Amino acid sequence: MKFELAGFIEECRGLVTKPESQSSISDLTEQAVSVQAAVLSELGEPTRGGLNTLYHAPDLTILNIVWAPGMTLHPHNHCMWAVIGIYGGEEENIFYRRDGSGLTQHGMKSLEAGNTVQLGEDIIHSVHNPREKLTGAIHVYGGDFFAAHRSEWMPDEYQEQPFSIEHTRAVFEEANKRMDSLV
Ligand SMILES: [Fe+2]
Repeated sequence: MKFELAGFIEECRGLVTKPESQSSISDLTEQAVSVQAAVLSELGEPTRGGLNTLYHAPDLTILNIVWAPGMTLHPHNHCMWAVIGIYGGEEENIFYRRDGSGLTQHGMKSLEAGNTVQLGEDIIHSVHNPREKLTGAIHVYGGDFFAAHRSEWMPDEYQEQPFSIEHTRAVFEEANKRMDSLV
């Protein structure tokens, strides 16, 4: 089966306006990542960690997220539903609940190539790539990932603060530097 980015985006755009959009987009994403070679040939073999925008509108954001080896992105929420589909490597999601002014862990889900998961809009998670290679994932969000007012929590004290996309990009850059230093 062939994966075509333009067609995938069009289908997501059509589905997002309909009822049960998260579940139908999850089915579509599951289908897409079921043939990893097809996704790689369309999106390219990942070479660097990064958060790459494939589509961005007020009601829908589609990202190609590449996790650098061993990297961890601190806890954050999305304030909108999300669908994650893995097309290479592994993504460990750790889930949290608010606890007083901080967070407490309450679960973990490991996703490998071909796996898809739906996240509810209230979810708080951190993401870790446990492997010594890049992990590639398509993330679809039912809203504007960049404009939404959301939160992030720094490790150790888990103090809530406004989400900063610059901060997130800096985490990817740090991870890329670490990857470069290991070569
Ligand atoms: Fe996330």
